[in-house]
Parts: sequence; structure tokens; C-alpha cells
Amino acid sequence: MDRRRENLLGKLKEAQQQNGYVSKEIITEAAQAFGLPVSEVYGITTFYSFLSTRPLGKYVIRICRSIPCDMQNAEMIMDSVAGEIGIGPGQTTADGKFSFELTNCIGACDLAPAMLVDHELYGHLTPDKITEILRACKT
Ligand code: FES
Repeated sequence: MDRRRENLLGKLKEAQQQNGYVSKEIITEAAQAFGLPVSEVYGITTFYSFLSTRPLGKYVIRICRSIPCDMQNAEMIMDSVAGEIGIGPGQTTADGKFSFELTNCIGACDLAPAMLVDHELYGHLTPDKITEILRACKT
């Protein structure tokens, strides 16, 4: 294995894609393979919002909480998502269908408030748009 540190993120992303999260076992294995403390690999894993240390749902909703989105009523969007799927940030629905995450800027500030559902970007969000988007995922 190529032990260069820049390859560590690739390994973690690969685990995320394959398993839907980066398990403790993967973190431990990566730490050993790259000659790093487990705490450092864990810290890297939890730093990036696109990596998760717990299994996520089929659809991962990421609402941007950076200032431009926050100033465009991201709080209302969070409430709409919570109302629609019945969970709050950091949670996954019991049926495993949705995970609700908060994230930093997703590069769509001109579309604020914005969110991702998996890799699909949605902007200029309103409660009605949230309902429409999430109901389409439910069917
Ligand atoms: S601040 Fe929300 S997308 Fe940039």
C-alpha cells in the first residue's frame, strides 16, 4: 500500500462509498497501514462532512449552515426537513431511508439556502420545495 498521507483520504472515501460509512475497523486498519495514531485518522474522518463514522440512510440530506445560507433562512429549511422526515440533524430515520446532516458551504452560496440530497444540489429552498423534493424521494 502506498503510505503517503495524501492517499489516506482516498482510502477513507473509498470505504465511505463502499460501505456508506467509515467503520472503526477501517479507521484502525488505515491508521496501521499509514503509520498514524488512530486518533489522527478518526480526526480526519470526522473533519470532512462527506465522511461519516456511522451508517447513513439511503438518502443523505445535507443542509448548508454557513453564513450566506444561514442568512437566507436555513433555520426554516432545517425545520421543514425535520417536519417532513421526522428526525433532526445528525439522525437517520428508523427505516434507514433518510439521514439528516448539517454541512459547511457546498459551493452554492448564490443559491442560498442550499442543500444536497446525496450528490444532487438544490437551491433557493422554500418549505414547499423541501416537501416536493423529499416526497419524490419517498416514492
Ligand atoms: S454558504 Fe451555503 S452554499 Fe455556500
